Amino acid sequence: MTEQASLYDRLGGREALQTFASVVVKRAMLDDTIGHIWNHATEYSVQREINGFVDWMSEHWGGPDKYHGPDMATIHRGMGITEEYWDALFVIIDNAYEEFGLAPELVEEVDAYLRSFKPAIVGSPTLRNVAKEHPDMDVMDGIKSVGVVWPAPQQPARAAS
Ligand code: HEM
Repeated sequence: MTEQASLYDRLGGREALQTFASVVVKRAMLDDTIGHIWNHATEYSVQREINGFVDWMSEHWGGPDKYHGPDMATIHRGMGITEEYWDALFVIIDNAYEEFGLAPELVEEVDAYLRSFKPAIVGSPTLRNVAKEHPDMDVMDGIKSVGVVWPAPQQPARAAS
């Protein structure tokens, strides 16, 4: 019996992932609920974000490229992503699956994987608010140095990695 191709290959490889990531990030930027997160983003930072997202999908889904950034809790810690923001992003993502005509079984696999990172992405306070509450915080020591631990230790192992 032949082994099933990787999810990366079944989705169409780097070019397909790059198109998906570019469309999603651009629409997120234009969105009324979450667009403000990119208010001061630069061309370079958005290109880096898209490339990082593509590398991350490649690494997790059997492609050749590796993601070299920090884990999902670390990269999003301090961004202040709420449930409302999460839902707004997944409306954009759901529309992209449909627009790209992704087969239902691929949608199921991709969506379940992406959504599994919710505990590592949603719920962190904004770094600015923590700094306002703790003006003496040394940001180089992070929010944990003033007792703000996120994700909370009782959350799933993936969130704490
Ligand atoms: C409302 C939800 C989300 C928002 C607003 C958001 C926003 C962002 C932003 C602004 C960055 C860039 C950080 C930086 O430049 O330092 C980033 C990085 C990243 N995000 Fe998210 N994100 C969300 C959800 C997700 C989800 C669901 C995933 C995948 C499961 C994800 C994967 C990534 C990855 C892999 C990076 C690193 C890219 C790089 O190398 O810079 N994000 N996110």
